[in-house]
Amino acid sequence: MAKGLARKQVSEFTRRIDAELAALASQDQLRCLAAIGGVNLCSNDYLGLATDPRLRAAVASALTEGLPVASTGSRLLSGNAEIWEVLEFEIAQFIGSEAALYFNSGYSANVGLLSALIRPADIVFSDAANHASLIDGLRLSSARKAIFPHLDMDALEQELCKDCSGAAQKFIVSESIFSMDGDRAPISDLVALAERYGAELIIDEAHATGVVGPQGKGLVAACGLSERILVTVHPCGKALAGMGCFVCCSQKLKQYLVNRARPFIFSTALPPYVAAQMRAAIRIVAAADRERNDLAVLAAFLRDRLRQGAFDIGSGDTQIIPVFLGENERAVRFSALLNEAGFGVRPIRPPSVPAGTSRLRLSLNAKLSTTLLARFADALISIREREQVPLQEQVPLHAVQP
Ligand SMILES: Cc1ncc(COP(=O)(O)O)c(C=O)c1O
Repeated sequence: MAKGLARKQVSEFTRRIDAELAALASQDQLRCLAAIGGVNLCSNDYLGLATDPRLRAAVASALTEGLPVASTGSRLLSGNAEIWEVLEFEIAQFIGSEAALYFNSGYSANVGLLSALIRPADIVFSDAANHASLIDGLRLSSARKAIFPHLDMDALEQELCKDCSGAAQKFIVSESIFSMDGDRAPISDLVALAERYGAELIIDEAHATGVVGPQGKGLVAACGLSERILVTVHPCGKALAGMGCFVCCSQKLKQYLVNRARPFIFSTALPPYVAAQMRAAIRIVAAADRERNDLAVLAAFLRDRLRQGAFDIGSGDTQIIPVFLGENERAVRFSALLNEAGFGVRPIRPPSVPAGTSRLRLSLNAKLSTTLLARFADALISIREREQVPLQEQVPLHAVQP
């Protein structure tokens, strides 16, 4: 190719990138990487275990005892160490499933699971607020999709009632505690609908694992419905203070995923010392009732304060508290002012959430205190006063999600 032509193409490509970045900036949607400062109110380390000495010790002793710092290949090649199988056995015992398969991340687990299980001839009923990893997995499956409004069981039932002729298999996909809204899926209603209409149910427990249910087993276990759900997904980067993700399912499904889930097959396994960390994490989390209780008390305290301050924080009752602000610009500005006041908070904007519902996403951890949270609520109220945001603009924005 002539040099001049190549240069022209490069500059056209550069212009395209520049235009897209400029468009993001003009919509207050340009993201930049920055370390979080101040009191961290946006971490998913819900039980405060990220710096726990017991987890450090588990990693240190795994390395001292000779576990390598690299796995050297995917699990199907050279990357399968015995400790992964021990870990999978232990998490299956803990969650109460027949088997479990460990993926390198929650994102790759959801993409791998959904793209492997669901075929183009199937139909999937998916909550409108589901995480990007679930959405991307569904896209890759090429199945027909029926997106129902967030938590709207009547709308889900209407979709399920529609003529699905030609669909080989029906699936319902939902988070249990929603990552951006902090509310809970009605698990027993989902199970009832799935059974009534012959659908399989897949539940992502990313923000419930470690946080709710007996010993932190999740919302499905809290409802006593583990045996009536096809698969539960348990990412480890949140309350489990680690990385990777457990997919809990039957032995047969595990074998199928080992053979068909592309992110599992075609990616180098994590180093085996991570398995030692996750084994320790399960034991610590199972015994963390005090931290779970502290977290629930802190969440109720802050929710009360923010509701008294007339903020729209949605209808949830969990450790994830959205403060709905509406426009991107306002969410960015509030977050910057809170950062200046010493609170680490991030604005959440489209495409993570629907347009017009930009928000601060507060995620609490058990190590915070009511004194700190009271200071935070006061800071938020005074920012709203300084910014002269009229109270009537605080009407439930979350209710207008598509
Ligand atoms: C509901 C949900 N599922 C999956 C993931 C992805 O997990 P990971 O961060 O381990 O890739 C996230 C991450 O935030 C999530 O919120």
